[in-house]
Amino acid sequence: MDKLIDPFARPISYLRVSVTDRCDFRCVYCMSENMSFLPKKELLTLEELDRMCSSFVRLGVEKLRITGGEPLVRRDIMTFFQRMTRHLDSGALRELTLTTNGSQLERFAQPLYDAGVRRVNISADTLDEEKFAKITRWGRLPQVLRGIDAAQKAGMRVKLNAVALKGFNEDELFPITEWCAERGIDLTWIEVMPMGDIGNEDRLGQYWKLDDLRARLAEQYTLTDLPESTGGPARYVRLEETGQKIGFITPLTHNFCESCNRVRLTCTGELFMCLGQEDNADLRSALRNHPDSDAPLEQAIRNAIARKPEGHDFDYSRQTVDGRVSRHMSHTGG
Ligand code: GTP
Ligand code: 5AD
Ligand code: SF4
Repeated sequence: MDKLIDPFARPISYLRVSVTDRCDFRCVYCMSENMSFLPKKELLTLEELDRMCSSFVRLGVEKLRITGGEPLVRRDIMTFFQRMTRHLDSGALRELTLTTNGSQLERFAQPLYDAGVRRVNISADTLDEEKFAKITRWGRLPQVLRGIDAAQKAGMRVKLNAVALKGFNEDELFPITEWCAERGIDLTWIEVMPMGDIGNEDRLGQYWKLDDLRARLAEQYTLTDLPESTGGPARYVRLEETGQKIGFITPLTHNFCESCNRVRLTCTGELFMCLGQEDNADLRSALRNHPDSDAPLEQAIRNAIARKPEGHDFDYSRQTVDGRVSRHMSHTGG
């Protein structure tokens, strides 16, 4: 079967799937305080998610990342992970993984490992309890730390995702780095992106350029650029003094669209070909209207990939927030 190749000759091998738009946190850069969520009937069922993902795997997707919202708050989500194990066993899928806020990991780390998950990305922007409660509004740090422990105990490699926020976690650059080094946790910093109406918005004020963060790190450590990639957008350096790996995700300062290999499926079955663009394809009707055949769905996927744009238009360089998209990160799954 022909693999998925987009109009810019990029092979599409990475699918991110948001399984719910709900979350048990309300991070200030991600959600407003009173979010309204989708009614249940709009969501793909777990069976439909299986058909969707399996079709993508047949078309050459090798890496499946489950996201949300918070994926682990979706009822019965472990059943879905367990179903995906068959694609790892067959060798079609190289990696099954998730991005989570960690709140439910204490409970789910072991079953996730048993389903074949070997790596997990956990979001935490601070290691200070009070600041954590402030930035996530509803989150509690000790619960997340217990989740991180459980993931490591189960045998998973852990990567911490921290959104770089000016005036918020600048002073934690070294403490967070050291904390990760002590525990053998990878660390990736992310530039804040203009997504979704979050109320009281101050994206420019929040924006901490990773060029600057990197320069500060270089004052204390020797940084060596690493050629390796996990198939995601991060570029990595090694800190020679500790041997640890630090990633930078820089949609604003260094757009990485030319190597984009991914598309995103929302929990309602829309396919977004780019995180930073509004265009999307409705895959849910192709699926629901043809319960007995996946051929129409596969055709709809191919048609969508044929429309994948060259890149996003996020831009803060003119001291205004350009290229913003109205949907929330939790809608498209980050
Ligand atoms: P690995 O490399 O497999 O560890 O994962 P990843 O970096 O692909 O996944 P993760 O869910 O940890 O993503 C980290 C951040 O990168 C999220 O905040 C995403 O929004 C952002 N990101 C991922 N893909 C893209 C992309 O195509 N464009 C932009 N602008 N941001 C992206
Ligand atoms: N800009 C950058 N990162 C964001 N995330 C959520 N909203 C934004 C935003 N506007 C991050 C979360 C998590 C990942 C999936 O996306 O902190 O690490
Ligand atoms: Fe939830 Fe993640 Fe959004 Fe925070 S960033 S509110 S944890 S979906």
